[in-house]
Amino acid sequence: MRDLIVAGNWKMNGSQQFVGEMLLALNKASFSEPVNAVVFPPSVYLHEAIQQAKAVKVGAQNLFYEKSGAFTGELSASMISDVGCEYVILGHSERRAIFGEDDLLVAKKVVAALENHITPILCVGETLEDRDGGKYADVIATQVKVGLSLLSTEQTSNVVIAYEPVWAIGTGQTASPLQAQEVHELIRNLVAELAGIEVSHNMSILYGGSVNAANAQELFSQPDIDGGLVGGASLKVDEFLAICSAAA
Ligand code: G3P
Repeated sequence: MRDLIVAGNWKMNGSQQFVGEMLLALNKASFSEPVNAVVFPPSVYLHEAIQQAKAVKVGAQNLFYEKSGAFTGELSASMISDVGCEYVILGHSERRAIFGEDDLLVAKKVVAALENHITPILCVGETLEDRDGGKYADVIATQVKVGLSLLSTEQTSNVVIAYEPVWAIGTGQTASPLQAQEVHELIRNLVAELAGIEVSHNMSILYGGSVNAANAQELFSQPDIDGGLVGGASLKVDEFLAICSAAA
């Protein structure tokens, strides 16, 4: 049985007041046992979110793979582990597109997370151009293969993958359940080739891209979709809770 995860990526949104209000509301929620609800506040608010979180877990939106040193503006895996993060989002398409992160850099970050007992959520996904050009399967396969390339089989078993088609992020244009399922199955088959059937069978693969309370249930009911990575809708407490319930 795979872990069901609903991850709320707040991106560069929020304030101390917002953290307090969200965590207060989320702490009142009771999730059915199998759903792991995780919020990802901006790094400056991680410590206070972790102090306040009771019913949800907290993760970081990024890390850098070096252990320490002259890397102005960066956070190491041991630092985010030190404050209590259990998850980290890596390879998000915004980091790839805006900050030029490539697959190998992402792979090194995945290793650093695992070495510090943090669960990496490795994000992959194609652009609209890739999809229209019929290249999406190749693009995703490369991202998955290189992203996992530095890991042992055992390490791979501790990775979560999120499929986030770039054209669906923040656009309101969700992938259809069948489109998403097709790619999730492709990813699971690829992981089976790389790390074996058992690892692939047990890996949680999340869908992200305009998930909301209205479409979550149908997406999450697909056989290879094990929850969601939610952006905009995770900033509204009732909607995030409804999405968590849809995963249960
Ligand atoms: O990481 C979550 C994400 O990029 C999806 O964002 O706003 O389309 O749910 P959104």
